[in-house]
Amino acid sequence: MGRIRLLSEAVASQVAAGEVVERPASVVKELVENSLDAGARDIGIAIRRGGISLVRVIDDGCGMDRDDALLSLERHATSKIRSAADLQAVATLGFRGEALPSIASVSRFRLTTREGDAIAGTEIIVNGGKIDVVRDGGEAPGTQVEVRSLFYNLPARRKFLRSENTESRNIEHQIHLQAIGHPEIGFSLMRDDRILFQLPATATLGDRIRDLYGVELLQRLVEVNGVLAPKIQISGFIGQAGLSRQNRSQQLVFVNGRAIESNLITGAVREGYHTALMKGQYPVTFLFLELDPGTVDVNVHPAKREVRFRDPNDVREAVVRCIQQTLERARADWQEKFRAPARAEPTATVFAKTAPDLTLRSEVTTPEATHRELPHLGVIPAVIERTRLEGSEIVGQAPRLPERRSDSAGDAAVPQPQQQGTRPAQQQFEIIGVLSKLYVLMENANGLVLVDQHAAHERVLFEELRRRMEQQGVPTQKLLLPQTFDVPPRDADWIEQNLSVLQRMGIGIESFGPDTFKIDSLPSFLDVSDAAQFMRKVIDDLKSASNNASAMRLGEEMIAKSVCRHAVKANDPLRYPEVEKLIRDLLDCDLPYCCPHGRPTMIQISLAELEKKFGRKV
Ligand SMILES: Nc1ncnc2c1ncn2[C@@H]1O[C@H](COP(=O)(O)OP(=O)(O)OP(=O)(O)O)[C@@H](O)[C@H]1O
Ligand SMILES: [Mg+2]
Repeated sequence: MGRIRLLSEAVASQVAAGEVVERPASVVKELVENSLDAGARDIGIAIRRGGISLVRVIDDGCGMDRDDALLSLERHATSKIRSAADLQAVATLGFRGEALPSIASVSRFRLTTREGDAIAGTEIIVNGGKIDVVRDGGEAPGTQVEVRSLFYNLPARRKFLRSENTESRNIEHQIHLQAIGHPEIGFSLMRDDRILFQLPATATLGDRIRDLYGVELLQRLVEVNGVLAPKIQISGFIGQAGLSRQNRSQQLVFVNGRAIESNLITGAVREGYHTALMKGQYPVTFLFLELDPGTVDVNVHPAKREVRFRDPNDVREAVVRCIQQTLERARADWQEKFRAPARAEPTATVFAKTAPDLTLRSEVTTPEATHRELPHLGVIPAVIERTRLEGSEIVGQAPRLPERRSDSAGDAAVPQPQQQGTRPAQQQFEIIGVLSKLYVLMENANGLVLVDQHAAHERVLFEELRRRMEQQGVPTQKLLLPQTFDVPPRDADWIEQNLSVLQRMGIGIESFGPDTFKIDSLPSFLDVSDAAQFMRKVIDDLKSASNNASAMRLGEEMIAKSVCRHAVKANDPLRYPEVEKLIRDLLDCDLPYCCPHGRPTMIQISLAELEKKFGRKV
């Protein structure tokens, strides 16, 4: 007797449901997507007990007549595509005709729906995939779906659900995604009979972000604009340099209106931020990519969470460039804040004042003699020489560090009188003091600015070293003993391909047999004890960052690692002119508001915020 049997429709649906409906949040996702596809303007969601006991989605979309309502519960029944060709360019969120039958097969399900001009609507009740009731219903036009007792007939699946709180949070995240993706649509969420949020339809994404996450977040975002690649348009908002989160919950990416998860895009975002993002932290993005639907395959993931791009490299490059350009533009905006006079009296600039006592309280005043000089880059070779093994030799473009930039000649820290004339409108700020030997307090036209002196100095050193690297190449230093090391064949290929880049970066590396390499020199600003281990790390970092490593990028990576050791630390008391020079140098940087590890260097607290805090303004 044959052993193969066709599964019954009910079992087949449950199997399919296993892929489509993982947890209550997937139910919410599918139902809200259906409402959006139905042209709803307002979508109300209610959940109970983490969506396990109830998910209800009510919309004011087009509704269905009775025949369609019955058909919608059949597998592979959809109004959204007709032929295989349509699958090449899906413009709706749904396209498989899987969601409703899958959900209905693993829950107690009730659908009521009515078309706008119909006299009566339809109500259908399904239990565990079996239609129990079909009758006229009298609800308002639109569609309402209630899903109760999810997985009541699949105890094994139910066991996999997390706590009600976790499931609720997943649902909230799902609705955040949809709400950010569709600001023009009103959303509300009730959790266990309490209203969690009610978002009115808004004209812009910015308004929606403000309504959902608050104005403080919006103020720290930069708008992405501009068409960067002819076939890829990117819009939305990203966090300014220095803003990051401990998880991905605010890293939102949409492709043609669909919220997706994409390692390709998150990798590109990371690369775009590069040193503007703290290691181990996640950026804040509300990124919208628009591409020709024919170049995106949406039919690759059972829950439609991922897509495949026909030209992944184009997409990656566009995102990297977009992030870089947006951050650069944001810098100009920031600098605006330092252009206007810091004080109401137009004459009061920092130059007009005599240096104030930098310490705020008398007990922390440090005697003049113990004030530390702000270390200049000029000290770095000395540091290196001390940390290097005896007998090491400096080769290549020697680390003969150039004269300081002309504007810092002489006593670097004292503001030069001519600066007053040449840059009158720039960098207007007033230093108030230094808090806790670390935070510089200052005033600009916007209000109070706090600067972390260590982070600020790291940024200044980083950009200075990078400039030198660009202009003069990288100073290298011979290792006392050349080291050989083996790598897996794939890494060996990568090294071979990038050999010239690595050499330009001051890494003296050459092939030494199959899958073996020899290093005999490294950039002199690095302090590496195990060259082979260092190389493995560099290869890993760079491979994950980009397909085509550039010398600049590699160099930046290495510099970022090394500057921390040279920068002034917390507790290093600086003299007033040094602090002032540090701030001026910082404001001259390309990315002044975060250190090369992505931590913020400055925090602005606006006068408006202070007024609010002190109850002067409500
Ligand atoms: N809220 C709704 N308002 C109006 N029509 C709806 C609604 N929900 C579902 N439908 C109709 O029912 C059909 C089946 O819905 P279902 O979610 O099962 O499949 P789909 O959306 O076409 O594809 P997918 O499985 O990818 O979601 C839809 O194609 C649509 O015509
Ligand atoms: Mg659907």
